[in-house]
Amino acid sequence: ATSSKSNHSDYFRCLSRKIPSQLVLTPSSPSFKPLLVSSIRNARLVAPATASPPLCIVTPTNASHVQDAVCCGRRHRVRVRVRSGGHDNEGLSYMPGRPSREKFAVIDLAKLNGVRVDARAATAWVDSGTTLGELYYRVATAEPGLGFPAGVCPTVGVGGLISGGGMGLMMRKHGLSADNVLDATMVDADGNLLEDKKAMGDDLFWAIRGGGGGNFGIVLSWKLRLVPVPPTVAFFDVTKTIDQGAVDAVTKWQTIAPALPDDLSVRVVVQKRQASFQSLHLGNCSAVVATMHSRFPELGLTLDDCLEMSWLQNKAYLYFGNASNNKPLEELLLNRSMTIGPFVKNKSDYVKKALTRDTWEKIFLWPDGGAVGQLILEPHGGMMSRIAAADTPFPYRSGVLYNVQYVEFWNGTGAAGMPNWLHGLYDFMAPYVSKKPRGAYVNYRDLDIGVNTVVGGVTSYESGKVWGERYFGPANFKRLTKIKHKVDASDYFRNEQSVPPLLLIR
Ligand code: FDA
Repeated sequence: ATSSKSNHSDYFRCLSRKIPSQLVLTPSSPSFKPLLVSSIRNARLVAPATASPPLCIVTPTNASHVQDAVCCGRRHRVRVRVRSGGHDNEGLSYMPGRPSREKFAVIDLAKLNGVRVDARAATAWVDSGTTLGELYYRVATAEPGLGFPAGVCPTVGVGGLISGGGMGLMMRKHGLSADNVLDATMVDADGNLLEDKKAMGDDLFWAIRGGGGGNFGIVLSWKLRLVPVPPTVAFFDVTKTIDQGAVDAVTKWQTIAPALPDDLSVRVVVQKRQASFQSLHLGNCSAVVATMHSRFPELGLTLDDCLEMSWLQNKAYLYFGNASNNKPLEELLLNRSMTIGPFVKNKSDYVKKALTRDTWEKIFLWPDGGAVGQLILEPHGGMMSRIAAADTPFPYRSGVLYNVQYVEFWNGTGAAGMPNWLHGLYDFMAPYVSKKPRGAYVNYRDLDIGVNTVVGGVTSYESGKVWGERYFGPANFKRLTKIKHKVDASDYFRNEQSVPPLLLIR
């Protein structure tokens, strides 16, 4: 204990020589706890995070602070966890490790949130600490004809989202966020600043675009390919109850949605025995109503159900619904302060073969046990199926109909009070979803599917394989482990689900 204490004071001395003291917060500071919880969305994670807080939170304002925090950490044996938007579903960007509870520091990138748009080239350099709301706002206000394919919630961080892929309602047209990364800058495990993809090399540049956050280094900024968006887009959100034919509609949606024109994405939220069909169409309402009439008449879509708005307004509307009416977009998209919300647990699956009507009926009638259970179905197809599974670490491309996200919300009683909707339903779904291995999306992080063990000072390949093949598929996972060995053989950046370094004996 004495030696680790002295290591920590050496670590702090090292930091203080390099980084202005106001950028390093320790638990004794009154601002520490508010900062620690500032981007935690999930009440389930607050108590464990505050009970075993990091030694400090470093809030860099430039690249050299990130390099210094890594170099000091390496020298004085303090690990770092990096946080961009803090939305990791298991809190891996700020939680104490399980079971080792090693001392660690958090590098919180929230202050690195610059967005530099080059409208003529249709590109932008975006810092990792930028939120999606900030990204959308800055891009669309610089050039209303440009957008970027990414997620729905405006407070999700660019750093974590792109590191794990990044799904959203334009992915059928333009692919994942990670598919639209042209270049990046990062700090590696030795504290070096790698200023472009050339300095990274092809392997590392491949790995950071979907291989999961917290593995290969700290990405500081991303050069993004921006995509054209029309002056107005069409949006609808149509809900069907069981009595109105929700079960038939979802059964049919499974094969229709992945085959719609790429400009049109219709996702489904199943909750409380109802299905809401939410759609973004990169065009006008009359065209989407006509398409839905011919392809999916069961939905009964009419012009009255459809709204036309700018792509940026749609970003606010998708998340806040009618509550966004008459509110300035700045207030909706740039506001980082948020309420913590309920206890949440997420899991995910991929569906390659449509479920039968009978199966959907059982899912709709699944007892909720007091929880609020939600299934979010995101259609693939389009551009998603034209990208090869090995092009990026994200393997769920051709042949995938849709992603399923299970979300269970509950209140008040702590993690132990979790109702059993999610686990029961997840077990029930096993025969109907992708198998061998059963797929999962790394950005819907789920520690139930496996956690690492450390053997001889590094994460064991065997323990990582259990969860890693499920997120990345066997071939991509293996490639990631070889890259990890090349760039971080001593496994400095590690957490419960970090990619293990694999040394290949030739
Ligand atoms: P956070 O800061 O917690 O980081 C997540 C992981 O990445 C951690 O392991 C962290 O260490 C690492 N990391 C963070 N910054 C890094 C950096 N700069 N360099 C290297 N590693 C870094 N997903 C999706 O695809 N589409 C969606 O629409 C949504 N919507 C959504 C809504 C809500 C409310 C939540 C809570 C989550 C989502 N997600 C999502 C999932 C989301 O993509 C996922 O949680 C991301 O990892 C969040 O990124 P943050 O930067 O916010 O998280």
